[in-house]
Amino acid sequence: MNIDERKTLISKQFQQAFGALPELWVRAPGRVDLMGSHTDYNMGYVMTMTVNQDTWIAARHRPDRQVCLRSLNIDGQSCIDLDNISHDKDVPWSNYVRGVAKVLQEKGYALQGFDGLIHSTIPFGSGLSSSAALEMASAIVFQQVGGFRLDPVQMALHGQEAENKFVGVSTGILDQYSSAMGKEGCALKLDCRYLVSENVQISSELQVVICDTRAERNLVGSEYDDRRKQCERGVRFLQQFYPEISALRDVSLDQFSAHAGEMPELVARRCRFIIEENQRVLDLAEAFPRNDLATIEKLFSASYAGARDLFEIGAPSMEAMISAILNSPGIVSGRQAGAGFGGCMVSLVKADQVEAFSQQVHKLYQEKTGIAPRIFSTSASAGAGLLNFG
Ligand code: GLA
Repeated sequence: MNIDERKTLISKQFQQAFGALPELWVRAPGRVDLMGSHTDYNMGYVMTMTVNQDTWIAARHRPDRQVCLRSLNIDGQSCIDLDNISHDKDVPWSNYVRGVAKVLQEKGYALQGFDGLIHSTIPFGSGLSSSAALEMASAIVFQQVGGFRLDPVQMALHGQEAENKFVGVSTGILDQYSSAMGKEGCALKLDCRYLVSENVQISSELQVVICDTRAERNLVGSEYDDRRKQCERGVRFLQQFYPEISALRDVSLDQFSAHAGEMPELVARRCRFIIEENQRVLDLAEAFPRNDLATIEKLFSASYAGARDLFEIGAPSMEAMISAILNSPGIVSGRQAGAGFGGCMVSLVKADQVEAFSQQVHKLYQEKTGIAPRIFSTSASAGAGLLNFG
């Protein structure tokens, strides 16, 4: 579906649902991390990139204080009373918008009601941040309808707060920052402590290809929290020797190695992964502009191996997918995307071999698992904002 077809579809459905045409259009992209798994809440670095799969909201002001939402992807309608924002357990996706509304009101922004129809091309729950895209898109609508402006980094922080406090998932800043601050045509080296990023160019000879395992993804919530707690335990342990540290980002590999043997073994493995992964982001930021394929390949495979063996966020579906990826033509390297535990994986493929690569990955993965994967090329699109159809 091209942009015009998408707009026509949404306009028609909007009119049917709300009895008038939309007067405002916004979009927010998903993201894929190219390096830096679980480094964000350790205050470290991530090589992140927006994808060109995105979430649109078509909207129209309402005279009252209701936000009435529908989605073209998932059934159900949910109306938010801005004077009494509560959870909707029957329409769980609406809680991302509810959370954003609640946080913005708590910060003192005057919100107004609207009708909104959501349409997303981001696969849900598979590690490409469909939830952060919905949060950022709705934050843009609230600004437009309410007539106030947020700095995009602030908007990302409010989205994270909504997810942490209202939705109840203790994620870091990566997803919202990427969706709000993403740049068309390049990756970002994000510093999660100082919330600044640098553009990083990836050679046009390389194509980013997403390989969605489409396997059921279990345990993400509780396992994610466990990993966070284990990292925090590691920090508390290392603070005995290095009182100046406040996050794993502050610990060098030498400092860690000097005391790794005294730490609980599991915690040591988690810490080693984060400290090494953080360094890999910095190394990748140097390798990308040089198009140093040997280094890129080494960093990607070390990241995947560490995620599987040290941080233990792997899954049988991921193992089947990485094997399919590495045995397909044109591959440079592949690794996990997002939190892990299944979902999408990301690969860098020689641009002129994407077709052959995708077919072979599809075949190999399906033979092994019986599941038809979803394989698609992507590229960095602009960060969240208004859609202008010019
Ligand atoms: C999820 C979280 C992010 C980040 C990644 C792992 O996507 O929402 O904050 O922690 O997992 O890097």
